[in-house]
Formats: sequence, structure tokens, C-alpha cells
Amino acid sequence: MLPRCAFSVCHVLMLVLCLSAAEDFDWTKNDHGSFYYGTFPAGFSWGAGSSAYQTEGAWDKDGKGLSIWDVFSHKKGKIQQNETGDSSCEGYYKVKDDVSLMKELKLNHYRFSISWPRLLPTGIKSDHINEKGMQHYDQLIDHLLENKITPIVTLYHWDLPQVLQEKYGGWQNISMVNHFNEFANLCFERFGNRVKYWITFNNPWSVAVEGYETGEHAPGLKLRGTGAYRAAHHIIKAHAKVWHTYDTQWRAKQKGLVGISLSGDWGEPVDISNQKDIEAAERYVQFYLGWFATPIFHGDYPQVMKDFIGRKSVQQGLGTSRLPTFSPQEKSYIKGTCDFLGVGHFTTRYITQKNNPSSRSSSSYFSDRDLAELVDPRWPDPGSEWLYSVPWGFRRLLNFIKTQYGNPMIYVTENGVSEKMLCTELCDDWRIQYYKDYINEMLKAIKDGVNVKGYTAWSLLDKFEWDEGYSERFGLYYVDFRNKNKPRYPKASVQFYKRIISSNGFPNQREVENWRRKAVETCSSSNQLLAAATRKSKEHAELPKVWPVHDEV
Ligand code: NOJ
Repeated sequence: MLPRCAFSVCHVLMLVLCLSAAEDFDWTKNDHGSFYYGTFPAGFSWGAGSSAYQTEGAWDKDGKGLSIWDVFSHKKGKIQQNETGDSSCEGYYKVKDDVSLMKELKLNHYRFSISWPRLLPTGIKSDHINEKGMQHYDQLIDHLLENKITPIVTLYHWDLPQVLQEKYGGWQNISMVNHFNEFANLCFERFGNRVKYWITFNNPWSVAVEGYETGEHAPGLKLRGTGAYRAAHHIIKAHAKVWHTYDTQWRAKQKGLVGISLSGDWGEPVDISNQKDIEAAERYVQFYLGWFATPIFHGDYPQVMKDFIGRKSVQQGLGTSRLPTFSPQEKSYIKGTCDFLGVGHFTTRYITQKNNPSSRSSSSYFSDRDLAELVDPRWPDPGSEWLYSVPWGFRRLLNFIKTQYGNPMIYVTENGVSEKMLCTELCDDWRIQYYKDYINEMLKAIKDGVNVKGYTAWSLLDKFEWDEGYSERFGLYYVDFRNKNKPRYPKASVQFYKRIISSNGFPNQREVENWRRKAVETCSSSNQLLAAATRKSKEHAELPKVWPVHDEV
């Protein structure tokens, strides 16, 4: 997600958008609009995702410690409407219900995260292990496996134990590397007999930039020009350490894989005949996904980041670059620490070159890049302000990963679209369109030779959307947050995604159109039921906990 100041630049500049950029690179022979009917490789894994703080609730139950998100969301003015994840979807109490929803969808995998302070209330293993927290994840993992759903587990989806923030400054401090390693090691020890896919960090870009540079996310620090680089540096080291721990202590016995989940928007040059725009677009992607992927695959930061941040630091009169450096030993320790790459992708920007002044007071991650972001006003944007639907950008990003990092094994760990809260609409035709087109571009990328093994729709449920509170709904299932039982209702996209899963792709035009028609038909009756239930709930009636999903397509 981008800071608000960047959006306003986007919106002004989009008016002067140069549309000559609509031409393809030669590895994408199809024009943007064409749809490819075909199926995914056998064994392709279909899933949906969630994260602990966004869905679990039970923020202070059963011995859980505080996370930085508990503390941040309780401060006034940080989250839309001052909402919190205190109860959210009450996922902590609804393991069985939610696994039935996954079964209904016929998911092959479920991606969720473990709350570090639920297992280690102070974050430090030698202080105390919370067995009740352990039991919760044991129950979830066992229940998934009983239902033949593979767990893909994220160790860090942003909820750092508050004690570690207060005592050490969180990811600004190198000591996090060992604390995180201890926590990860405990998870391998206790869950690794059943969990074979581990993700160390989810979207470290957001942790670094929004947590330590813009302060929009917990812990809310605004250490402009340095905080994000320092946090990222420690996160990369922590990731590498955990990968080595698994590799040396657990891999032979448990035979699992350890990866990281990086998010990245695609950046397309505004004018593909302009070398400066081409370089600016490349820089955009290198400062985003490349910031983390390049050290992990090649041992060091992208050259362009070293050059730009180094040069600006000198101009600002600093003796060393604001971008930290890895020693030769660290480089070889970090290089190659990825068994699979998790990719979270939602949107695309057009990029043009723009020189930023490099005064010390204005130094920031954003100004270091010397570029401006633009959007095409014709791109659909049904929900979040930053999320424009640009399916072809997904194929390009996947091809970029293939060429830059030696065609790694990829799991798409997040992809999806939101809607605004006020709309209690289960007939989410625009989400069907988004999934259909993005999944199709992923299929094209696989035909291009990109090694994508699985796809995770983001997200299973509507949930707490960080600083946006509950105002943006990403779920396949609608959650009625006003009702204390937090009942779930299938949106039309449930029906559609389910058909993609059972056909392992898109068989032919007639059938795919039929799925869509049926999905929309079914949801109009669900809509009426939701409306009736809402009326009833106003009369203090109990709602069903899980809405029945209609199967007759
Ligand atoms: C990425 C984050 O990992 C996830 O938690 C969030 O819900 C999505 N972006 C959408 O903003």
C-alpha cells in the first residue's frame, strides 16, 4: 500500500497519462484483452489465505501477550473509525466452521499466520511458552490435515510482540534476528511434523516502509530515509538465519520447505520508447520486490538501490550510505536462502522518471527512487484506493521474477480485490472479473515457463484491513461484523472460484460464462437472505454462524 501523499501525486499525474505505453514486450505476444482457455498443470495447488491479527480476535485471551498491532490499534486516530482487531472474525473460536468453508471451496491449501505473542507472550522463548496458544494452532493444523487441506504457515505477518518493540525498538534492532529465530525454531519443533510449507516473513516491504518510514502501520515510527532500510536489513538477516536453522536442524527429518512472501506491484514505463522511463520502471520494481529478492537470490541489494541511495547520501553530506551493507560473509550466508518464493500481488502502476531534490530534510525511501507513479483512469478500482485492476501486470511481474532470479518455484501467496464496507453486496461480479482475469494471466505466465506451483486467493474472509479497519472487504466470504457471532456468508465469487478449482482452470468460453451466470443467480437469493438476517438481527435474533453454501451449479 502506498502512503496517501503518493496517491495524490498519482491522481494529478494520471490526467497527463501517456497511453502510448499500451504495447507489449515481446515475451507477451497476446494483446492485453485476450483470454486464454486452458488448464493448469496437474497438481497445481489452489488456496485461500488469512493472517492472525486480521482474523483471530481473542487479542487478550488464553494467555496471549500484546502485539504491536494491539497497542497501535488502541491508540486514537491510527485506524479508520478507531477500529481494532480485538474480536475481528473471532477466527480463534471458529476453526471448525472456517475449515468447513475451505472444504466447501475444495481448497488444496490454506495459508494462515501464527501470532508470535500468542505462543511467546513476551516474544522471548526463555521467558514463557503459552501452551494454550500452542493448542490453538495444533487444533487448526490437525483439522486442516483431517480435511486434506495443506497448511502453508507464515511465521511473521506483522504482529511483533510489544515487549520486543518496547525493550529493543523492534526491527530497528539486530537482536530481533535471534529472538525471531528462537520463535521459528519452536514452531518447527512443535508443528514441523505436520507443516511442510513455511513462510518466514509476509510482505517485509510493508513492515519496513509503513511501520518505520511513514508510520501508517504499527509500530508507527517515522524514521524517514533510514528506518525502513534498517528494518529491512534486519528482516533479511532474520529470514536467512531461520532458513539455515531449518536447513541444518530440521530439513532432513521434516522434509519441508522454507520461503518468504514478498509483495510487489508491477511498474510499467509510461513511454516504452523513452529509456529514462524504462529505467525508472525497472527501479520501481527493484526498490519494491528486488529490495528483498535480490539479497535472497543473489546475496546483495540491487545495484540500482546501492547507486541511488549511495549517491543521494553523499549529496546530503553523509559519510556513509543510508542503505546498510552486508559483509562478504553475510552475503554468502543470505544468498540462496529460499526454497520457494511467495508472491503477493494486487496492482500495477505506470512509472515515469522524476528527479527529486536530495536535501537531508526531505530524504525518504520514496524520494530515493526518482520516479513518479501514474494510473490509467480507465483501470477499474472497486475497493481500496490503491488497488486498480490491471491483470496484464501480473504476468509481467511473474516473468520478471523468472528472469531475474533463475526461475524459482513460486507460490502466489496473495491476490485479490476489495470492496468498500458500506456495500453489503454478495453479488461481487467485479471480484469474479478480477479473479478470472488475474488467474488467467497467471496461466499465461505458466505457459511462458514461469514456475508457479500454487495460488492463494486473498482472502478467505472479510477481516481487519490494518489502518483501514473494516472499511475494505477482501473476503470470498462476507462477515457480518455487527453481529457478535460474526456469521459468514458466501459471495458470488465463492461459486466462481470453486469452479476454477474443480476444473483446474478455464475449460472453454461457454462453460466459464455459465459459471458466472449461475454464481450471480445464486447470490441474489443469498443477498435476500442476508438482508432478512440483518433485519432480524436488528430485532435481536440470533444468526446462523455459517451460512449454507449452495452447491447446485
Ligand atoms: C498485503 C498484506 O499482507 C495483507 O495483510 C493485506 O490484507 C493485503 N495486502 C491487502 O491490503
